Amino acid sequence: LNIALQYSGINFPGHLHTLQSMHYAEEFKFHDTDILIVTYPKSGTTWMQEILTLICSDGNQAPAKTIPNWIRTPWIEHYYCEDILQDKLDNRIITTHLPFHILSKSLKQSNAKVIYVARNPMDVVVSFYHFHKMAKFLPEPGTFGEFLEKFLLGKVHFGSWFEHIKDWLSHREEFNFLFITYEELKKDLRSSVEKLCKFLEHSLLPDVVDTIVWHCSFTNMKDNQMINYTLVPNEIMDHQRGKFMRKGKVGDWKEHFTEEQKQHFEKVFQEKMREMDIRFIWSL
Ligand code: A3P
Repeated sequence: LNIALQYSGINFPGHLHTLQSMHYAEEFKFHDTDILIVTYPKSGTTWMQEILTLICSDGNQAPAKTIPNWIRTPWIEHYYCEDILQDKLDNRIITTHLPFHILSKSLKQSNAKVIYVARNPMDVVVSFYHFHKMAKFLPEPGTFGEFLEKFLLGKVHFGSWFEHIKDWLSHREEFNFLFITYEELKKDLRSSVEKLCKFLEHSLLPDVVDTIVWHCSFTNMKDNQMINYTLVPNEIMDHQRGKFMRKGKVGDWKEHFTEEQKQHFEKVFQEKMREMDIRFIWSL
């Protein structure tokens, strides 16, 4: 199960990604009505999938409660995506973890809406580390310190966090693009839903927004089988070794990093993000 597919110099889990599915993503014909969620793994992908499902269904919870997220908001680069999307023409919510350069050509030929969700990379690496322990399609992570080093060097599956965010954000002007962070969603989910509605030009009544905020809380989502990944068999995700809906917190890195690791991380962050003119609401 744990065989990587190397594509464009990056390792991807081979049980979900094939050469054919990567080509499919690269050549994909986006529609102007498509909504594309772009994330580096563990940044709030699943949360955004749920929020957008609810916005697009005008707060009707039925799709979110009956259809697994990987079918209703499929990853364009996964091998099963083609079958799911082939008959769906409108209102498609599509997900991707791919770096900018793989999708840029096809995305530029449309006016699809792109939503980039970012999260404090210190929390991303912690969440990713725990996910590696349970996901049998990812390599064993070793100790947290070992995994952290690989993450900082970009030598993990899905490539470098730094390159991912830098490449996507430096091309944001070329697209119909919204940048939003996990921390913003955590701080004020209601305002975040309203911001998303505005971007999507999809207005909702205040009580529908209330339903969405309630439905998408961590407490609710962790008990919804259609989004908490408990439907995935143990051979693929070892549910004894952890939960996909783990903690859902901001700042869990403080429980994992030593002072030395924190300083090293900050140094690498400053170096790599120096040329980026973006302000995050998290404080490193
Ligand atoms: P933790 O491991 O820190 O708990 P992704 O969907 O990109 O793989 O990200 C998974 C992370 O998002 C996990 O983080 C998960 O708990 C968190 N998450 C999912 N739904 C959430 C929600 N409704 N509220 C807060 N965090 C959520």
